[in-house]
Amino acid sequence: MHIPVLLNEVLELLNPKAGDKIVDATFGYGGHTDAILKSEPECYVTAIDRDPTVQPRVDEFKKIYKDRFSFIPGKFSDVINSLIEKHDKVLFDFGVSSMQLDDAERGFSFSKDAKLDMRMSCNGLSAYDVINNYDEKDLAEIIFKYGDERHSRKIANAIVNARRTNTIETTLNLHNIIVEALGFEKIHKVHSNIDVATKTFQAIRIFVNDELREIDKTLHALPIILSDNAIVATITFHALEDRIVKYWAINTSNFTPLTRNVIKPSYTEVKNNPRARSAKLRGYVYKK
Ligand SMILES: C[S@@+](CC[C@H](N)C(=O)[O-])C[C@H]1O[C@@H](n2cnc3c(N)ncnc32)[C@H](O)[C@@H]1O
Repeated sequence: MHIPVLLNEVLELLNPKAGDKIVDATFGYGGHTDAILKSEPECYVTAIDRDPTVQPRVDEFKKIYKDRFSFIPGKFSDVINSLIEKHDKVLFDFGVSSMQLDDAERGFSFSKDAKLDMRMSCNGLSAYDVINNYDEKDLAEIIFKYGDERHSRKIANAIVNARRTNTIETTLNLHNIIVEALGFEKIHKVHSNIDVATKTFQAIRIFVNDELREIDKTLHALPIILSDNAIVATITFHALEDRIVKYWAINTSNFTPLTRNVIKPSYTEVKNNPRARSAKLRGYVYKK
């Protein structure tokens, strides 16, 4: 089940008005798009997603919202550059969707066994390719850089040793290798409630989907599609994403923060949707 994160706060920030042209750059299950289109019966949403499996939901939305909803498949870095019209509001809800995490076949999660994959677009370089082919130094660097994992060298070494005997095929294969490599860390899990493999899985996913460069490139390209006074809202889920948004805004003089502080989910939201716990919403207004 997908529950859109910080939904009321996003609506308040975007404040959809009649005639607004709005981009939802991360359509997913369409939770935010749906709420935007319902909140203002005369606004328009152009949605983007690189994941082809969102298509049935897109078809559903086209039937309900007709010409108020359109969808462009692909990476937001590519699609943004192809939009011709100016837009009044843009939303990014970065990262992976609950559907992607929950669908074992996609190989994003170690909660179920599946072939290592993690590709949002369902094509290109996969987690399997990286885990089985990258050399130890590169693996350690990826795990450190994108997972902030201080045991990255130990994990990379364990991966390379394990694959000498057999290729590492599945999410549970990889999980077991990490748990064995960090045996003593199991104790920490009891205290922190976070699996010892979480950081490594996050790192491989970010690398496979080139997530950080996608964000940085796209934020910098935004002015070409924005009308004067356009609003940009971003939801990030970890420090690496959030840092990119923060520095982009600081270093580009056209974007002014709309709120003094970053907006975080309430206690009740986190209780109902633990996935929201690390979410941070930022809003900016664009002036030419
Ligand atoms: C957190 S989910 C969005 C959920 C959505 N807001 C909702 O309420 O249903 C993020 C979505 O963005 C997509 N995505 C991530 N990076 C992307 C990129 N660079 N280009 C296009 N889509 C991307 C993912 O495939 C995923 O479906």
